[in-house]
Amino acid sequence: MGGQNPYIAAPEVKAPTQKYQVTFLPMNVVVEVDPAKLPYGHDGLPGSLLDIALGAGIAIDHACGGVCACSTCHVFVQRGMQTCNEPTDPELDMLENAPGLKPSSRLSCQTVPDGTTDVVVEVPDWNRNLVKEGHGPAGE
Ligand code: FES
Repeated sequence: MGGQNPYIAAPEVKAPTQKYQVTFLPMNVVVEVDPAKLPYGHDGLPGSLLDIALGAGIAIDHACGGVCACSTCHVFVQRGMQTCNEPTDPELDMLENAPGLKPSSRLSCQTVPDGTTDVVVEVPDWNRNLVKEGHGPAGE
């Protein structure tokens, strides 16, 4: 799936124009984002944290396919939040359903850093797709 939810306005996004890094915790994977190569994972907004994560093989849950219609792609932006687009009302509505809400909470499919600083993102345990990462019963 992927694309844009036709029932909500597209968020205002400032796409990156320079390379920058996103560190995903707790797996501690550092991804260098090259604007010329976006989109990476093809789910979520182009250049979104979900797009970047999926392109790097980091399996964040994304039940709705990245169209702001669930809250399973919830992450915490620990550093670099000021470089990300503002959350829209539909994103904030969806986040209200997310467990463990914090001031740093965002939907990774709707959050696009502009690349002016590096970003650190924590993926909550409950949103990491452990089976896809090879830690489930079949992958142990
Ligand atoms: S994947 Fe459903 S809101 Fe992000």
